[in-house]
Amino acid sequence: MQISQRTQVGIVGAGPAGLVLSHLLYLQGIDSVVVENRSRQYVEGRVRAGVLEQGTVDLLTDMGVGERMKAEGLVHYGIELRFGGQGHRIDFQDLTDGKGITIYSQHEVLKVLNNARVATGGQVLFEVENVSVHDFDNSKPKIRYEKDGNACELTCDFIAGCDGFHGVCRPSIPSGVLTEYVREYPFGWLGILADAPPSSEELIYTYHDRGFALLSMRTPQISRLYLQCDPDEDIDAWGDERIWQELQIRLSSTGWKLTEGPILQKGVTGMRSFVVEPMQYGRLFLAGDSAHIVPPTGAKGLNLAVADVQVLARALARFYATGNQCQLNNYSHNCLRRVWKVQRFSWWMTSMLHRFPDENPFDQRRQLAELDYVTSSRAAAKTLAENYVGLPMQ
Ligand code: PHB
Repeated sequence: MQISQRTQVGIVGAGPAGLVLSHLLYLQGIDSVVVENRSRQYVEGRVRAGVLEQGTVDLLTDMGVGERMKAEGLVHYGIELRFGGQGHRIDFQDLTDGKGITIYSQHEVLKVLNNARVATGGQVLFEVENVSVHDFDNSKPKIRYEKDGNACELTCDFIAGCDGFHGVCRPSIPSGVLTEYVREYPFGWLGILADAPPSSEELIYTYHDRGFALLSMRTPQISRLYLQCDPDEDIDAWGDERIWQELQIRLSSTGWKLTEGPILQKGVTGMRSFVVEPMQYGRLFLAGDSAHIVPPTGAKGLNLAVADVQVLARALARFYATGNQCQLNNYSHNCLRRVWKVQRFSWWMTSMLHRFPDENPFDQRRQLAELDYVTSSRAAAKTLAENYVGLPMQ
């Protein structure tokens, strides 16, 4: 059976970008439908990012979906940079006039957003198949997909491509329109989730001869830890004991102990910087990972996706209220200013903290000098802090 439907904004992807956009539009009286090829259970169970900038926290609060985050999120006013076996605190509160970050799981944010969409009559269609986008270079864009064996067509005014790096939206833009900017890093992160109370109140980013390590967390009972590894590292070669041993070595510091516990999940992620320009074509707008990827060292992926859709929601609201397309036309330009600054920061943090296979002893000395500078100069620490807590939205 062929099912036809109409909405104002068709959104591909029910990740943070798609769901925040859908709810922001709802709050402004704009109708949207979200299509997602995975199941709700999968999306809500997948362990992803965990650091929310102050601006992201403020937005979710203003949207009325911040209650659980406020109750359960861990507010941090600093991070530790550890090198040469010594810790150095970057005091965000002092360096950014009181700003901080909140540790709260992306998948918890998604649960709350899904509930909010359902409670307000929003349509988020999970487990749709064969999604494709059409006619976005004229005034009647369409999203086609299959659901429960039926062929469906969603006609809309605009399409938001919030379907991630591997999604269908970006590759649907005609060739020759987009320019891609890419940097692959010659390493990955081996990440674990452990049933162990975090050994530090704040995150610890460590530079070590054997490679980078990070201590993060999800709750007061659950630690999240990462080790720099080869990009194609075989996770099966890493038994729990070996992982803890390596974490103990890289994170070690006098008078400090890393608490171990059962490993609940483990995996390897690659690292890349990626930007596509422009982030729009006709009536198709790319947002979040479909348009850009940052290496996780700056903890920016989710926050950048949310920043994109804030710009998009504002532009769409202006269009529906006044017919003025100015902000829509400037969407890509306005987003990319922030995207590139965040790319720069994420690249810089990554470059400072990892061992590179092709480096020489000069590079290593330079990295240590950079760490020494950033932890001893107020100007340098302030630069790190203002980027980490999040640059202001324009
Ligand atoms: C995480 O908790 O997953 C996390 C924290 C900080 C990062 C990256 C990942 O820079």
